[in-house]
Amino acid sequence: GLLWSARIRSPGGPDDGAPGAGGAWTASPSVSSSDGVLEVRLEAAPARLSIGGRDADVLAYNGTVPGPTLRLRPGDRLRVRLANGLDDPTNLHTHGLYASPAGNGDNPFLEVSPGGTFDYEIDLPPDHPSGTFWYHPHHHGMVADQLWAGLYGAIVVEDTDPVPATRERVLLVSDLTLDTAGHLQGVTMPERMMGRMGATVLVGGRTFPRLDAAPGDREVWRLVNACPTRFLRLDLEGATALLTARDGHRLASPRDAGDLVLAPGNRADLLVAVGDGAATLRSLAYDRGDMGAMMGRGPGRGGMMDTEPAEPVDLLRLVPSGGSGAGDGPLPNVPAPTNPTPRDLRGRTVAARRDVVFAMGMGRGMGPGGMSPTINGRSYDADRTDITVEAGTVEEWRIVNTSPLHHPFHLHVWPMQVVHDGTAAVDVPDWRDVVVVPANGEATVLVAFDGIAGRTVFHCHILDHEDLGMMGVVEVR
Ligand code: C2O
Ligand code: CU
Repeated sequence: GLLWSARIRSPGGPDDGAPGAGGAWTASPSVSSSDGVLEVRLEAAPARLSIGGRDADVLAYNGTVPGPTLRLRPGDRLRVRLANGLDDPTNLHTHGLYASPAGNGDNPFLEVSPGGTFDYEIDLPPDHPSGTFWYHPHHHGMVADQLWAGLYGAIVVEDTDPVPATRERVLLVSDLTLDTAGHLQGVTMPERMMGRMGATVLVGGRTFPRLDAAPGDREVWRLVNACPTRFLRLDLEGATALLTARDGHRLASPRDAGDLVLAPGNRADLLVAVGDGAATLRSLAYDRGDMGAMMGRGPGRGGMMDTEPAEPVDLLRLVPSGGSGAGDGPLPNVPAPTNPTPRDLRGRTVAARRDVVFAMGMGRGMGPGGMSPTINGRSYDADRTDITVEAGTVEEWRIVNTSPLHHPFHLHVWPMQVVHDGTAAVDVPDWRDVVVVPANGEATVLVAFDGIAGRTVFHCHILDHEDLGMMGVVEVR
């Protein structure tokens, strides 16, 4: 019953390699709605926190990294008073929530000045999918910096039909680089062009935390990739697990969780069967493109840009107490959800087909060799509407990638059904809000612009690319 086999032995944790070097995992505070409303104040401000065993100067919501977990139910109203205690402007994006951008619910164009506050009011429709979502700042030009510094948190839309489990854990994975004084290390322009990769990987704000459990326990893990650039290629050694949801959409039938890649922004819900022995979750080496080719120097000749592939890294250790050390638990049973994401858009009339072309353009903009990340040849302009969609229609978007680097494509608000992943047609309904568009490849999605209208954005979720202009504006009306 080993679902995920370790193909690569990790060299150890990011600190000293000792299992659980970051200590026991503790959940961020969590706040839940009652009577259909969740009212919460989130203050973004500098904080000094212990990270990887030393004091670090970070940015935090309400003093913790990650920020508080917001727990809602379908149909709820979320009211957030965002208070900006930073030296820079910020704002708030509720990533993946299917909520109207027409009011102030999803407004990446909004700017909350230092010292200012803004009251968000977000209404979840009654048929909102249950699952794992998250929030982070979305002020263009500063998204990667603010996320990297610690500004992110989870949103859980409670399952109306929960997967039975002993406990649930919200596990946000992030990365950052600290200097010896505990300050965030500066990021160079070449690093921004490639997308920054942190030297330290955190789970719930800790390095390689230890999760305590008992043999026979069933745990729901809500994993969020909150890294600005790092792809997580997950491998669980020593325990069995099933994948039950992706990007907030329950799978009609849970499947083997093996070979699961989470691009920046993606989430995955797992049901983990705790066995008698310890288990390790790690991210395996992952190559997200050819930097040498990207630089026009030929494959493998990226020089200073060859920061890839990402090294394998241990994420967390699950330690059952009182077990015999014998190994894996049995495969967990997951009852079929009564509310799987119900739709399959194949067969619906397609009102428009569009190409959305990601490029690392040469000869203009900033960056090495004059490269700039663009969509359809243009850099982001908040005042320009790039795509206008008629509300209520289904569209097919082919996302084309002309660069030798994978780009994760994110569309706000409206979930995407992946119908071609760049290698093959996708036969079972597969819903995402971030879709990997492979280097020099493409992916095709169907989107139902039903129910909700308004103006918002789509972009690369390598957030340095987004900050450098790889973002466009869509208006549904
Ligand atoms: Cu998680 Cu527009 O982003
Ligand atoms: Cu990108």
